[in-house]
Amino acid sequence: MATTDLSASSGRFPTGRMAFPHRDLTGIGQLQRHEILYLLDQAEQWVALNRQSAKHSDLLAGLTIINAFFENSTRTLLSFEIAGKRLGADVVNMHAAQSSVKKGETLIDTAITLNAMRADAIVIRHGSSGATGLIADKVDCPVLNAGDGSHEHPTQALLDALTLRHALAERGEGTEDFTGLKVVICGDILHSRVARSNILCLTALGADVRVCAPPALMPDGIEAMGVRAFYRFDEALDGADVVMMLRLQSERMSGQFIPSAREYRHLYGLTRERLALARPDALVMHPGPMNRGVEIDSEVADMVGRSLITRQVEMGVAIRMACLDILTREARGLEGWA
Ligand code: CP
Repeated sequence: MATTDLSASSGRFPTGRMAFPHRDLTGIGQLQRHEILYLLDQAEQWVALNRQSAKHSDLLAGLTIINAFFENSTRTLLSFEIAGKRLGADVVNMHAAQSSVKKGETLIDTAITLNAMRADAIVIRHGSSGATGLIADKVDCPVLNAGDGSHEHPTQALLDALTLRHALAERGEGTEDFTGLKVVICGDILHSRVARSNILCLTALGADVRVCAPPALMPDGIEAMGVRAFYRFDEALDGADVVMMLRLQSERMSGQFIPSAREYRHLYGLTRERLALARPDALVMHPGPMNRGVEIDSEVADMVGRSLITRQVEMGVAIRMACLDILTREARGLEGWA
């Protein structure tokens, strides 16, 4: 895998502030290829730090980060909290269920309240698509999207890309990007912000992306995103290098989209037999939380050397450290990043 050279002479990236000219991270759709690569490269130092016994940096000392989560989370909330703390920031978590949102306070008023507390970065998860962009317009600090409705989950796609990079490099197959890599994303494509962010990220990095879902869970016109749509999982798996499984997002479904979990597993579940249709060494991914025995069988999810699922969680902390570092550089007086 290519190592990072951020020197002005490398020509690989614009330098300084131009390497990442955004105040907020609302989606992968806002990023260019070189900005995605910059974020991934910046995360490498935090992968290394996180593998040491002493995992602390004072980079963000004195800054306040607020994690405002209006939807449940285990991985994203905890990894943003750990990321902020490992960088030395003061991290505060706001759980909507215990907040004045329950008394009828609006999203905008909540955002204005957090802003008045002079946060240096706000991380938002919300059930409505576009909520993060709305808040970003109302506050003075960087806003990071931790998942908004069915729209985007940018740090998930970035951590997935970082995970793949590491796994491919360990096999001696690493290149700067994913040109030619055949990735199948299977599951509830219609409601999945993870699918959308991953499609944007993987196609930007050159991967050949196939999406697979029952017809009711496939968005109309998905091919316009540069992917191929499959309705038969067995066909989608042919020659695949990577199989990324998604959970059925029942919290975003109104009505019946599948006949039953049993029927769904029969047609779209990743079993050991079905995985054998992909490349012999195909890698398995899942953003979590998993529904074992529905979209993925345990013997696949836990397959040593093939499943990257726990590695994805590890990379989540490093990616979130990189995002917090980059987006708070102005707050730390690094305007222009000279
Ligand atoms: N992948 C993901 O977003 O998991 P959580 O819902 O647990 O944060």
